[in-house]
Amino acid sequence: MTKKSLLPIGNPYYENVPEYMTEVYDWAYVNPRNAGWLDNNWVVRILLFFNDQRLMRAYLNEVPEGARVWQVAHVYGELVRRVARKVGPKGAFLVTDITPVQVEHALAKLAGIDWARAVRADAGDYSPDGEEFDVICSFFLLHEVPEAKKIAVVSNMLRHLAKGKKLVFVDYYNPKPWQPIRYILKVVNHFLEPFAEALWKKEIRDYADDADRYVWRQKTFFAGVYQCVVVEHKE
Ligand SMILES: C[S@@+](CC[C@H](N)C(=O)[O-])C[C@H]1O[C@@H](n2cnc3c(N)ncnc32)[C@H](O)[C@@H]1O
Repeated sequence: MTKKSLLPIGNPYYENVPEYMTEVYDWAYVNPRNAGWLDNNWVVRILLFFNDQRLMRAYLNEVPEGARVWQVAHVYGELVRRVARKVGPKGAFLVTDITPVQVEHALAKLAGIDWARAVRADAGDYSPDGEEFDVICSFFLLHEVPEAKKIAVVSNMLRHLAKGKKLVFVDYYNPKPWQPIRYILKVVNHFLEPFAEALWKKEIRDYADDADRYVWRQKTFFAGVYQCVVVEHKE
């Protein structure tokens, strides 16, 4: 019997959730009971080896007040509220996510912030109707999706990148051989994150068609464990 056939039939939290999510990340992002206790700042802090604040700052620094921002997947903890507050009432904040429980959590966090919304959608094919964004951000999504989905997400984000606007990717990179975290992550990736190590070998620009049409600015953190890549059209 496959794991899939054990999924709770008719459970709305599992409806139309892709197989890589139910097979690999059920415990982390799909199961509503687990999501309930995982969704807090401490989980993010520990998962990111206490680099959470500077990685969030790398994203927030690219977001001016009044900006229209699309974050393509939900993140545990306070991040969505921080971005929404930073853009303020003159801006707009949209977060999309592929699983019902994550959208539920995002909606709860954004309650009362009139310029913010959460929508269920696949970052790889969502097309916000006629909307234009100043910043589109993927915060630790790429390492969690299969290669074909990485291409789809990067391509879709580029499709919505207007001239003068930017994409921000914050994710894992390739830790230096002397960084001890490299070897901890090797074990974690082996057991829990089968799609993550591709980012150790490939640049994010490698997932894009026509990468040369854009400027890709990369900054790394924590001896190469993490990267922030900002993408803009060439002049
Ligand atoms: C952004 S990543 C990981 C972030 C970080 N590890 C954290 O602490 O939350 C996790 C999110 O990506 C979402 N996700 C996975 N595949 C997606 C897709 N194709 N489109 C949109 N969201 C997706 C998951 O449902 C989950 O909420």
